[in-house]
Amino acid sequence: MDQDQFTIKGGRPLIGEVEISGAKNAALGILAASIMSDEDVFVRNLPDVSDVRMLLSAIKGTGATAEQLNEHEVRMNGSSIRNYVVDDYYIRKMRAGYYMLGALLGKYHYAEVAMPGGCTIGSRPIDQHLKGFEALGARTKIENSMVFVEAKELNGAHVFFDSVSVGATINVMMAATFANGRTVLENVAKEPHVVDVANFLNSMGARIKGAGTDKIRIEGVTSLHGSDYTVIPDQIEAGTFMALAAATKGDILVRNVIPKHLECISSKLEEIGCRIRAYDDAVRVTAGESLHPTRIKTLPYPGFPTDMQPQISVVLSLANGTSVVTETIFENRFKYVDELKRMGATITVEGNVAIIKGGSLKGAKTLAPDLRAGAALVIAALAADGESVVGDVHYILRGYEKFKEKLQKLGAAIESGISREAVETVVKNG
Ligand code: UD1
Repeated sequence: MDQDQFTIKGGRPLIGEVEISGAKNAALGILAASIMSDEDVFVRNLPDVSDVRMLLSAIKGTGATAEQLNEHEVRMNGSSIRNYVVDDYYIRKMRAGYYMLGALLGKYHYAEVAMPGGCTIGSRPIDQHLKGFEALGARTKIENSMVFVEAKELNGAHVFFDSVSVGATINVMMAATFANGRTVLENVAKEPHVVDVANFLNSMGARIKGAGTDKIRIEGVTSLHGSDYTVIPDQIEAGTFMALAAATKGDILVRNVIPKHLECISSKLEEIGCRIRAYDDAVRVTAGESLHPTRIKTLPYPGFPTDMQPQISVVLSLANGTSVVTETIFENRFKYVDELKRMGATITVEGNVAIIKGGSLKGAKTLAPDLRAGAALVIAALAADGESVVGDVHYILRGYEKFKEKLQKLGAAIESGISREAVETVVKNG
């Protein structure tokens, strides 16, 4: 809590190089999947963010080994698991705790996991996860905010998902890894982190094909062996720094990325008037003289990611004209708009559409409503004239490693400060 607000002096272009960390959403799936092996599994390039720390702590609660070798590497081992109930204060706050359902159901045919929380950006049901588990032969129940899954045996099945869900795809893929025979999953998510979790499971001996396409085929296996695996770079962290270059009229070389994963973001930034140069494992974004308006619709990968919607909306609020942003994945993802309006943005939200009239932003005091919107407000503050304060930055630290330090290296005037609310909480709690 002692670092719960950023004080930012905006209005200067951010210039330089930034090193992107491992992908949070891939890491969360991979760490849950790692306990499906009874041998040592080394996971490298983990981002040092609080969501990862929270999941590691929940995994330890099952009895599994989760030994932190350094801030980016762990040794996992699932042979000592004795407890199939996953429930603690932190797991209730995050979304990815649900991956323990697929991992434990697959391996032990039983799991009880607290109902997932995560950013309040929409209703975020888990019906598609449960539909997949049931198709494999599991019984499922939600009671007292706990999700129960249980099976006598798991048998391969054909699952056609009703909606494209990253979480459901990964979760059912994990459980099906240990099902008897063949499972076919259709209408699956194709995000880079889905592919990374599949590659990781295969590195332990799973037999998964087709990840990254609409159809995943899984031949069940009876055990998984050890592995040594490096998590892919974070597409959304990279995209956030790309948006930052555009918004601050800067020039940033975003390093340690897979440019292919960033094409959906790069092409929009080009439309907006930025110059993008892709290298083998880096992308350079040079802001144009002026920013042009555009239309953006969030879609499952390879479409424009919903997790980049707030950041790109900040860029568009600085453009020369009116843009339209349509959010199709989550129904409640424009909560940050009121905060942006306090900074002088002209945005009208009607349902899932935001009409953004570009202009300039001025410093103000805002609160991060969730992880990605929080990052967007920091971008806004760095692009704005004058001083801003962004509060509740613990949301941002769930998913951005050393955010302040990386920004400072690019020339940002950003400092952490103790918010009054944080001080009050510390005093209250002794
Ligand atoms: C994951 C990411 C999150 C990202 C999102 C979409 C993690 C930990 N989180 O979240 O950062 O914003 O993908 O890229 O990886 N849905 C259902 N039923 C279900 C599951 C989902 O109707 O059982 C709906 C959701 O309400 C939403 C859409 O499907 O409208 C996509 O959700 P999903 O892909 O599952 O997102 P998450 O896995 O929660």
